[in-house]
Amino acid sequence: MNRGFNKRLTALLLTILATGSLAAAPPFGTPDDVRYATDLWKAMTETRLVGKNTIISTPYKGMHPHGAFLDSLDTRISVNGHSGDVIVKKNFGGEGISKEAVANDPQKWLKAVTVMFRREKGYDSDNRDWFWVKYAPDGSVMKNPKGMALAGRVAKGMSEGCIACHTAAPGGDMVYNHDRMK
Ligand code: HEC
Repeated sequence: MNRGFNKRLTALLLTILATGSLAAAPPFGTPDDVRYATDLWKAMTETRLVGKNTIISTPYKGMHPHGAFLDSLDTRISVNGHSGDVIVKKNFGGEGISKEAVANDPQKWLKAVTVMFRREKGYDSDNRDWFWVKYAPDGSVMKNPKGMALAGRVAKGMSEGCIACHTAAPGGDMVYNHDRMK
């Protein structure tokens, strides 16, 4: 190792110690998480899981915190060279909603798209390496009341949120609707 490198390394370590920036990094909502969510949205658009050319399945009756009606698609897709399981849940709601209304014009009733994407091994071994994200219908990442973007390990270590609630899913795989993706 040369001296210049050592100097830069020392400076970096001092910065981390001084700002606590590594230790304090939140488990979700960072610029990296939002960037990854944007790449994921692009991959889902290309594979017709979201967007104006999306494949449409039959809506079914949902419950809180997801929509009054839902539609769920899952498959494997590739994001930045990594291929993983993806579950795409569209959340529909609004005054006067019905199953027929959603089936006839899904885009009109779409309130949010909640997605689980299995990232590379070790991304979050406590939680089966799922990346969680809640998108607005236009593909932008939605925020919680504290202004944190809902993308990444949402909300690891907290008593509410995607991870806390999905931990109760049967089969120990964090997925409610099936146990295929253990
Ligand atoms: C209070 C509990 C709760 C919270 C919080 C929650 N979910 Fe869910 N989620 C469920 C339940 C129950 C189901 C299964 C029933 C259904 O289809 O809605 C589900 C289903 C899903 C599915 C379809 C796969 C499956 O597990 O069946 C996805 C994807 C999903 N949720 C994503 C999210 C994301 C992303 C968040 C956070 C932004 C989130 N969920 C927050 C309870 C929750």
